[in-house]
Amino acid sequence: MQFAGLILGILSLIQLWTAACRGRYRERRIPTSGKGDQRHCRPRLIELADSEGNSRTWSGPRSFVVRRRVEEADQVLSLYLEPQDGKPLPSFAAGQFIGVAVNIPGQPSPVKRCYSLSNAPHSRYYRITVKRVSGGLVSGFIHDQLLVGGIVQVHAPAGQFVLTEESSRELVLIAGGIGVTPFLSMLEVLAKFPGRRATLFYSVRNGRDRIQRDSLEELMARAPWLRIVTIYTQPEDTDILGLDYNDSTRLTAEAIRNVVPELDAEFYLCGSVAMTTSLVNQLRDAGVSEEWIHVEGFGGPPQPRKAIREEKRQGDSSAPEPIAAAPKITFSKSGTTVTCDQPAASILEVAEQHGIELESMCRSGNCGACRLALLSGRVAGCAGQMGAVDGDSCLPCVARPVTDIVLHA
Ligand SMILES: Cc1cc2nc3c(=O)[nH]c(=O)nc-3n(C[C@H](O)[C@H](O)[C@H](O)COP(=O)(O)OP(=O)(O)OC[C@H]3O[C@@H](n4cnc5c(N)ncnc54)[C@H](O)[C@@H]3O)c2cc1C
Ligand code: FES
Repeated sequence: MQFAGLILGILSLIQLWTAACRGRYRERRIPTSGKGDQRHCRPRLIELADSEGNSRTWSGPRSFVVRRRVEEADQVLSLYLEPQDGKPLPSFAAGQFIGVAVNIPGQPSPVKRCYSLSNAPHSRYYRITVKRVSGGLVSGFIHDQLLVGGIVQVHAPAGQFVLTEESSRELVLIAGGIGVTPFLSMLEVLAKFPGRRATLFYSVRNGRDRIQRDSLEELMARAPWLRIVTIYTQPEDTDILGLDYNDSTRLTAEAIRNVVPELDAEFYLCGSVAMTTSLVNQLRDAGVSEEWIHVEGFGGPPQPRKAIREEKRQGDSSAPEPIAAAPKITFSKSGTTVTCDQPAASILEVAEQHGIELESMCRSGNCGACRLALLSGRVAGCAGQMGAVDGDSCLPCVARPVTDIVLHA
């Protein structure tokens, strides 16, 4: 009898433990690149649930108030955003971005752009850190006109540029300029994971462009398994080698190897298309498998022709196919047909040049907001863009026509 009681007790304990694990990890999972979905009762790199175990999110735009503006560096500022309705804020996976829509005087409708969340998950606010782009519509508006108390519409956190839990490989985070923003958030998370060594290679022009220096240094002191290698490509007289920065030469796979000798690591890259394309090619040449390379693109000027040729030479199937003749794009709902006479232009760019408005947000194949049904014809990915297209639909922001096409728009 006593023995049976003991067995029952042990079984109850096991049930309690299992239930506790289930409750703790009731969350929205970030799909990863097919490496399995292993759940364990241990702290998580990705934990979207709030302290009560709820993972509330929303769809469509939601009003947020600008609570703070902080100058971070030359032409870079952070906005601290809180929901206007005062309701709880869902967390996010470090590395994700939000869509921000702003009403700009003179623009017929709200203008949307994506910004990576640069603060630690589980905060009362979302922080975005925005660099002014020369002539930029939204970044210029944010810098010049969006003051504390201003309202913006925010689309819920999204994106797959997040840490993978299933890997215990050393992490190499490579940031070019403002591309450091998703890593600011990732490093906050990694500071709680002594098992996960990480090195941030942070390349900026000089000390005036560098952001969050104090908080990053404080983080490294608190979490010695994290390292930062700072590269100033155009140091000024006031910038001191060894004190302010570690190197002034362009970042290459060889330079990374000097710090992480085996390259047996997981790589995250965020910066200009030219920088990330060049480094990805070098890492591939050095034997790093595609599986361990993650890239986030912020958009910007198209990739230089030289880099495109280089990509093609290496047999990359996503390299651009040449267009024989100027293909036609027909928008079936409006019945409009336009000719695409710029081989490097995306469908979205061609549409805009002809005054046709299409839905878009990230403009870099990341968010899916622009997806349209492809009724006929063939498209390819634009040069240097990572956005995917399939047979039945395409992402006009990163797709270009290879033949005459008809889109359901
Ligand atoms: C997933 C994602 C995350 C992003 N996160 C951040 C972030 O954390 N911080 C941030 O500052 N930006 C970020 N961006 C870029 C941001 O969304 C805008 O593209 C950027 O602010 C420029 O918008 P704009 O309206 O000012 O410029 P636009 O009016 O759209 O463009 C004006 C001119 O600038 C060029 N241009 C556009 N975008 C860029 C760019 N990114 N770099 C260089 N030239 C450009 C255009 O080709 C054009 O010639 C992110 C983009 C994506 C897709
Ligand atoms: S606008 Fe985001 S995928 Fe095209």
